[in-house]
Order: sequence, then structure tokens, then C-alpha cells
Amino acid sequence: MFILPDLPYAYDALEPTVSAKTFTFHHDKHHKAYVDVTNTLVAELGLEGKTMEEVTLFAAGDKSKKKLFNNAAQSWNHAFFWDAMIPSYAAPEGELKAAIDAAFGDIAACKEKFVAEGVGHFGSGWVWLAAKKDGSLVITSTHDGENLLDQPDLTPLLVCDLWEHAYYLDHQNNRKGFLEAWFDTVANWSLAASQLSAAKGAGAVWAYPAPQ
Ligand SMILES: [Fe+2]
Repeated sequence: MFILPDLPYAYDALEPTVSAKTFTFHHDKHHKAYVDVTNTLVAELGLEGKTMEEVTLFAAGDKSKKKLFNNAAQSWNHAFFWDAMIPSYAAPEGELKAAIDAAFGDIAACKEKFVAEGVGHFGSGWVWLAAKKDGSLVITSTHDGENLLDQPDLTPLLVCDLWEHAYYLDHQNNRKGFLEAWFDTVANWSLAASQLSAAKGAGAVWAYPAPQ
């Protein structure tokens, strides 16, 4: 059985960028439903004991397993998204800052590209800051539940949810305003730094909690 990981902060810790009301729906209803459906399908298919990463990749690209893929990938994406936010914002520094400067020019240009990618993404999905194995950074987006697990050259550093349920209660249809506030106030650059190190072979990449 996969658990629904607790939020790593209080429900109101990221206000006003993300309200407690949004988390009450987004974590307790949306994310819980993805995990519950994944657990049901995993049991039906005899996949107990496999990690969330393994289940997601098992179902990826197989039309007959689309429901399993959508729910496992969305379970993974949301758990990573909770960890990609932090109440005590601290700007990137050191190796991470150098990688951002090399890829985009500076943090402001990185923000501009991240926000533009998210605003330009049609419909539901996710916007990612990711690292290649050589440590260079890219910004990309994926549709619906899709993520980067099937792109082994890319390690996600940060992700922001582009589904309307992520921002509609707090920002209505202003996806751009949500992304700008998200980037400036709650992005977890500490997670991004550890993921960048892992991308280059130092330490473990972030993983969904192991099944229990
Ligand atoms: Fe979501």
C-alpha cells in the first residue's frame, strides 16, 4: 500500500500564495484520490511491493494501463510538488546559482522562462525545472499526469502544478500571477540543490515513500 504523504508544513504555512483552503482540497481530496485509485489498481494487477516510480514506468505508454499511469504519476507529481515548496524561502546559491546563471543568465531570467512555459502550456499539466546529467538546466512542461520519470536524462529540480485546482481558489484564472508568486515566495531551492547534486551522481534523487 502506498501512503498519502503528509504535507511537510502546516496547511496555512504558504499563505497567501497557497491557502490552507487550497491544500485542504488539493492534498486531502485530489492527492488522496490519486493514491487510493493507485492502490486499488496495484492490488488488482498484483503489483504490490513495487515502488511508485516502478508502477508509473510499468504503466507508461501502455494504453490499456492509462488509468494506472494517470493515478500513479499524479500521486508521484503531487508528493514531489509538496516538497518543492517551503515556508522559509531562501534564494538559490552556490553550485545551483551557478547552474541557473549558466543556463538562463540569472534568477530573474530563469523565473521569466519558467512562468512563460507555465502560462503557455495549454490545459492541465506541470512545469518543471530539470537538470541533465552534465548539470545543465532546462525548463519544460508535461501534459496532464505526465512527468519526467520516462526521461532518464532529466532529473526534476522543481515542479509547479498547472491544473486549475492548484490555484483557482487563491488566484482564480490568473495562472501567471500564481506562477510568479510561487517562484518568488515558496519555491524550495534546497530541494533543487540536492536534486542537482543527485543528477550529477552525488546522493540519491527524490523518491516517493516506499510502499508499506
Ligand atoms: Fe494538482
